[in-house]
Amino acid sequence: MASKMNFTPRIACVMVGLPARGKTYISQKVCRYFTWLGIAAKVFNVGNCRRELYGAQQDNTFFDSNNVSGKKQRMEAASMTLQQMLNWYDQEDGVVGIYDATNSTLERRSWLYNTLTPKGIQVFFIESICDDESLVSANIRDVKLSSPDYKLMDPALAVSDFQARIGQYTNQYQTIVEQDYSYIKLINVGSQVIVNMVKGYLESRIVYYLMNLHIKGRKIYMSRHGESMYNLEGKLGGDSDLSPSGRLYAEMLPGIIKEKLGGKELVVWTSTLKRTIQTSEHLPYLKQHRKALDELDAGVCDGLTYEQVEEQYPEDFARRDDDKYNYRYHGGESYRDVVHRLEPVIMDLERQGDILIIGHQAVIRCIYGYFMNYNQEDLPYIKIPLHTLIELTPKAYYCEEKFYKADVPAVDTHRAKPTEPRPIHTQAAPGSSGEVPLLPTPSLFPSSPSIDTFSPS
Ligand code: ADP
Ligand code: F6P
Ligand code: PEP
Repeated sequence: MASKMNFTPRIACVMVGLPARGKTYISQKVCRYFTWLGIAAKVFNVGNCRRELYGAQQDNTFFDSNNVSGKKQRMEAASMTLQQMLNWYDQEDGVVGIYDATNSTLERRSWLYNTLTPKGIQVFFIESICDDESLVSANIRDVKLSSPDYKLMDPALAVSDFQARIGQYTNQYQTIVEQDYSYIKLINVGSQVIVNMVKGYLESRIVYYLMNLHIKGRKIYMSRHGESMYNLEGKLGGDSDLSPSGRLYAEMLPGIIKEKLGGKELVVWTSTLKRTIQTSEHLPYLKQHRKALDELDAGVCDGLTYEQVEEQYPEDFARRDDDKYNYRYHGGESYRDVVHRLEPVIMDLERQGDILIIGHQAVIRCIYGYFMNYNQEDLPYIKIPLHTLIELTPKAYYCEEKFYKADVPAVDTHRAKPTEPRPIHTQAAPGSSGEVPLLPTPSLFPSSPSIDTFSPS
């Protein structure tokens, strides 16, 4: 292959650990974090290749280290997965590859290290160690019984076979002792963390991210502020007060939250703008006002309506429709900018228990898009209606979502992507504005969130 000068650091996160130690969970989280930041990341799972090559119904004896044919087949699945990851780096400009398998022997790790390192791919091992038997049993119940490996098996038999599989691995398991490797060991979900030889920006982001993760049950609530005076007038940005309807929503919010949470404590984050602070006014919880949660800065267009932007800055208006995620307002921000300024908020969010974020249309899209795995193209069009509380419940590999709509009228500020691309003129084209119909795109409203309605009391 033609040699390509590649200055982007490429990194392989290699998972290590017994089965049911959260390796796939961690892999998915790391992948989502980087993807959200716009860094190409992908998970490569050896179990999937094994099922593709040899079928799903392998009992625990397949994983016995003395099973010669099983060992050979596992190695073939591991090689095929590694080859897929190597192809992805080369053909799709991959940056963070995540190799999700047990990788529980020195031999397997040295094979991976010695294959990847000469290709200029930095190897970072992530080991999860957990001796909390009740957590391991819960993990088996929560995720392994629904795995294709056990789909057709009686659940009690599946649990005992999976426990026996863990036993097969325990016999051959070698924790990381290779002191010349870069690694992190997470012991009992991060209650202890050991870090060795961390190099470079990407590895240090991963370490920091992993140190913030926890798996305690919690709810993440999000809401836009109540309807503002600017919303009523269709104006972007600003720092206006709530409308009378917005104030009614602020009055209802404590009741909605209390019904969901009961007497539990909650942390509330708002932006520093009046409309989110006013929305939080009646909430009897600890509040923090964070600048990073302020709305996307519309720069020179702040205070204008979409119609005025189209009239005064037609080229910009068309450019934003063409690539809304990357378009940066003059003197303002793009969605990409907002995602980057929200990165520390996401880190902090991962650490929190029950939390309510009162934010703005673009900011809530970015945070919601992180948890719900939206791509960059769709993220700026997610429908986050006013006067609606969103509840996310993190599950093993995804978030469950519910929308609670307060029965308080509000304007709709969502502007759909035009179905026809607009011509991008370098000068205003008088008379042309408004000729391209703004037809709604297929709804990006999350597939089937349950929606409850609350009436003012
Ligand atoms: P593995 O890939 O190691 O077989 P999974 O990722 O499929 O395990 O297990 C998922 C479960 O592991 C989830 O229910 C999640 O809550 C839990 N989990 C996440 N992180 C950890 C961890 N560091 N240690 C133990 N369990 C974890
Ligand atoms: O209209 C409300 C608002 O929050 C504006 O302040 C902001 O400019 C806009 O929404 C962001 O939404 P969009 O990116 O869809 O224009
Ligand atoms: C698997 O086949 O599910 C698996 C994780 O493979 P290995 O233990 O060989 O990494």
